[in-house]
Amino acid sequence: MIKNTIQNNLEQLCYEYVQEFKDKEIVLGYGRIDSPIVIIGEAPGKDEVKQGKPFVGAAGKNLNEFIEVLKISRDDLYITNAIKYRLRRLNPKTQRVVNRPATMKDIKENQIWLHKEIHLINPQIIVTLGNVPLKAITNDFGISIGDMHGTLQECNLSGKVYKLFPLYHPASIIYNRSLKDVYGQDMLTLKQEVNKLDLNFSK
Ligand code: URA
Repeated sequence: MIKNTIQNNLEQLCYEYVQEFKDKEIVLGYGRIDSPIVIIGEAPGKDEVKQGKPFVGAAGKNLNEFIEVLKISRDDLYITNAIKYRLRRLNPKTQRVVNRPATMKDIKENQIWLHKEIHLINPQIIVTLGNVPLKAITNDFGISIGDMHGTLQECNLSGKVYKLFPLYHPASIIYNRSLKDVYGQDMLTLKQEVNKLDLNFSK
């Protein structure tokens, strides 16, 4: 698809998404719309809502560090979330709004939108960050990132097969420092797989 058509179709999809989830704090996908690599996170947080872009907060900082390993500019990637609005709840103790984990219902309600978005971008490889996008992409709700991380897989989205590379969520390193080495190793494996694809970064 030519870039203008992708842009128009994405805009239409985003318009429909915003109509569907009117009352939510929405952050849409961002980046190169014809990128050969799509990165999918879980859902935006407070910082992302404030800036209107995915992965700009603490998890984004970690993600940037790892993207550097790929020697690809972040501008050459398309980054989105499995759920494109902040998952929030009120903490009754502090009366503050805090993030909440995604439920299976959240994932299912957003799956169709995510799959349509992927078809429009039509990447050569999909990189999922953590359990939520892995479930959303594989439609396997028993799957676990602990078993799949760092290995090249395939996923079938409405009959089209894509290469899939599951990674831990970069925020998991904030809570579990011992994952940092594992994450670094997985990024090196991803780099090898990306090099094999001989991707075109100057479309
Ligand atoms: N974590 C995510 O999964 N996505 C974001 O956009 C930010 C943090």
